[in-house]
Amino acid sequence: MTSKPISVQSQWVGSYRRRMAVSLERMYENALDWAHLPHLHSDAFAEIDLIDAGPWGWRATLTPALANRRSETNSYTLQLTLDRAHRRWISSTLDGPNVGSEIWTHVFEFGERDIEIQADFFVPLIQEDHKDRVGHAYRKLYKQLYDEDEGMMLGRQAALDAQTLARQADPVAVDLGSVAEIAQRLPHDFDWAGRPWRLGMEDDRWYAYTLLCPHMLGSLKHAAAVENVVTCPWHGYQFDVRSGECLNQPSCRLADPPSIEVIDGRVIAQG
Ligand code: FES
Ligand SMILES: [Fe+2]
Repeated sequence: MTSKPISVQSQWVGSYRRRMAVSLERMYENALDWAHLPHLHSDAFAEIDLIDAGPWGWRATLTPALANRRSETNSYTLQLTLDRAHRRWISSTLDGPNVGSEIWTHVFEFGERDIEIQADFFVPLIQEDHKDRVGHAYRKLYKQLYDEDEGMMLGRQAALDAQTLARQADPVAVDLGSVAEIAQRLPHDFDWAGRPWRLGMEDDRWYAYTLLCPHMLGSLKHAAAVENVVTCPWHGYQFDVRSGECLNQPSCRLADPPSIEVIDGRVIAQG
């Protein structure tokens, strides 16, 4: 069953449903997280400029990715209003080419980490014979966005769970292998103190950096360092892997790595 949008002229053009093994908390966090749009969803969005945000939701100017633009000046203002009492949020287009469009997303909770969302798409002043095509386009876009969002929510939950275990882990020394063997397969990923790290070498010196972004625990595993700078795929924070500094958010920095020593021809990570 669909809910009525605020605008009386808007018409329902389609819905998208998806069941996911994530908690309501992760889902609300994702809905309020305006900053991930042009990074995690870079195929759909090029830029976002925040106007206002709070526990109520957010309002921002969005620029679609080039492939999705109808013209060069295709930015629009989107407002997302979270209604916790009814377990839903409403995304309203306040100006631009699709002004008046609304997407109502409801969450149904089946268990602690078991939810289903239903997004209903409403478009104003649409001709009857265009509804199917527009509804199909929305469903296709939402499938892509939720493929990406589900991966992020599952990854964050797994990282939070692992972090709880890591707090109890002893930072014991780990033998990573012989110098000759490890040097053949750099960069080399390893676990130490319950967390993932990457080992590299520069100017004949070993170094390691964390594969967990300090912002919201995004994985840096698939983000290759370019000239010693790694970019987190979730919100685009950039880090110098040698110093740990964040280049675009000075308050954030990579966790201190273990020291890397060579003892009797073996590479050892230790606290
Ligand atoms: S998790 Fe947000 S930038 Fe890495
Ligand atoms: Fe998203």
